[in-house]
Amino acid sequence: MGTFYVTTPIYYVNDLPHLGHIYTTVVADVVARYRRLCGDRVRFLTGTDEHGQKIERAARREGVAPIELADRVVARYHDLWRLLRISHDDFIRTTEPRHERAVPRLLERMEQAGDLYLAQHDGWYCTGCETFYTEKELADAERRCPVHGTPCEWRSEENVFFRLSRYQDALLELYRNRPEFVRPETRRNEVMSFVESGLRDLSVSRSGLDWGVPFPGRPGHAVWVWVDALSNYISALGFGGTENSLFEEYWLGDGTRLHLVGKDIVRFHAVYWPAFLLSAGLPLPTTIYAHGWWMRDERKMSKSVGNVVRPDSLLERFGPDPLRYFLLREMVFGQDANFSDEAFVDRYNSDLANDLGNTASRLVKLARDAFGGTTPPESCDDNQLMHVAQTVVEDYRRGMDELNFQAALRSLWRLLAEANQYLVEREPWKRIKQEGATASVSRILWNGMEAVRIVAVGLYPFMPGLAPRLLEAIGSDGPPESLSALAWGGLPCSREIPPLQPLFPRVDKETFMSEMPSEGSGVSVPPGHPPDSSAETRNASGGLEIEDFQRIELRVGRIVQAEAVPKSKKLLRLEVDLGPAGVRQVIAGIAQQYSPESLLGRQVVLVANLKPAKLMGLESQGMVLAAIDAEGKPVLLGTDREVPSGSTVR
Ligand code: MSP
Repeated sequence: MGTFYVTTPIYYVNDLPHLGHIYTTVVADVVARYRRLCGDRVRFLTGTDEHGQKIERAARREGVAPIELADRVVARYHDLWRLLRISHDDFIRTTEPRHERAVPRLLERMEQAGDLYLAQHDGWYCTGCETFYTEKELADAERRCPVHGTPCEWRSEENVFFRLSRYQDALLELYRNRPEFVRPETRRNEVMSFVESGLRDLSVSRSGLDWGVPFPGRPGHAVWVWVDALSNYISALGFGGTENSLFEEYWLGDGTRLHLVGKDIVRFHAVYWPAFLLSAGLPLPTTIYAHGWWMRDERKMSKSVGNVVRPDSLLERFGPDPLRYFLLREMVFGQDANFSDEAFVDRYNSDLANDLGNTASRLVKLARDAFGGTTPPESCDDNQLMHVAQTVVEDYRRGMDELNFQAALRSLWRLLAEANQYLVEREPWKRIKQEGATASVSRILWNGMEAVRIVAVGLYPFMPGLAPRLLEAIGSDGPPESLSALAWGGLPCSREIPPLQPLFPRVDKETFMSEMPSEGSGVSVPPGHPPDSSAETRNASGGLEIEDFQRIELRVGRIVQAEAVPKSKKLLRLEVDLGPAGVRQVIAGIAQQYSPESLLGRQVVLVANLKPAKLMGLESQGMVLAAIDAEGKPVLLGTDREVPSGSTVR
């Protein structure tokens, strides 16, 4: 038991939140909820990074003041965090006075240490990263940023420099003496070799930047956004202010200080931030834990690439907990993972609807039927399932302590599998018929329900809404208050339980996939932010080969039959006449924009040599082409004048 300070990166406000931001914040929330159960005094901080040229430019593009843009995006973050049941204790904005006051205080301490000096700075700058790169780091001829892929700008200005080079040895010693400082191991190795290769001093002021914290004693200069941003972790605790009891408790004390970050910003956190703190004579974080990226089509999901997932439709349909569970179960913490709706629905059906939901509802039904609507009257404190539960709880705790969420969740599922096996072997349903609701039937069912209770307690940090509902449904109490709830024996006997309403109703995969936006992808690109086609469609040599394009058979066809697909809101079944090439059945996701009658006789453009696919059990033998309008809705393509059915399109 001690203090536990956990933070997320503060998010830029030039972009609406997407799955990547959600991920780090959900991870932090799971950690915070688990540590509270451990009895720690937890402080969980998240927030927004609002200064800098990137934000200034985004606001200018939209014709608003930077603070207006920030206010708008911050409101979205607040809504989303509420929706996702994020239990942060504080939300810092770098435009708040408490923060703007703290940044100069940190710089003063660095100045007093003799670590700041004035010098000319020339170099390649990426506004996306708000950082300078060396020639060596920009490998290609266009000097593209290694993270954003956009060309860097040449900058030449007089800046205040921080003597980062002075901290090279201290940092290396830190990484060697405290291997837990940067995790996982791969990131630690990367950071060490970066520092070993030699640290150059860092410019920490920017001229010509109006949207930032004014640099103390340097009129016309603003503080470099990364000094500004990193300071949030202490400004939010009151550093530099008059009331700093939180700073004393969570930063100066000897508890844990954990920064969760994406691997893109490890260097800032594991090299620059400790160097600033060493210079200022302040304690360091305990651990910087860097997770991998959520990818789509082999690329990091990001606004600049245009491949972000904003899982609005998933949240609307499933609520927050299944998404929270999926994110933590699917990604090996520290490695990259690919997001797909299909993987989501598969995991939902197999883990939640089947393994968890079915086991719980089967047990509740058996117990209610056998014991007149209550939990079993007899408990049991020595049986095979109990022993399994004890090792499962140890594994779960180890997983959670090490931030190995996948392992923690897998261990809970091992207990579910054992509980099912235990029931199959003992067949309580048969015994009830043969011997009635005996003490031994009671013990069997109680054991099964107790296993489910322990799983639900372990799931609480991951599913803070549904886990308590599951606990109540099996006759236990709501949210657990401490980890002692993981001990065997907590399920009350003879407690009234209502019939279980399905918490995880099974989803028909085909219907689900056909009803997701953008043809099942779930990707929603907001209006005005089309995907960056240059990044997505060009191959390495600069374009698609003509032979590749010619392999696609495009033909004009006439719709001769159109009708709604039963049980689908989005799909229509079309018959498209391709003249000599025959009539094709095509299942198209256009029902919300076109009535079947309005389509009859109309000519459309069809991709005629696609591999047939099944949608809602119907074979689709091609795809009609449509433009996507500003709201993401399909608008059918046609020809300028009538052409014979079956004509090719080139
Ligand atoms: N403002 C800086 C952080 C300053 S912290 C002192 C920043 N902001 S960001 O909005 O661009 O991204 C912040 C974080 O969002 C990343 O470090 C990562 O935690 C998360 N992610 C953004 N895209 C991501 C993925 N595609 N996948 C996983 N997480 C990623 O950098």
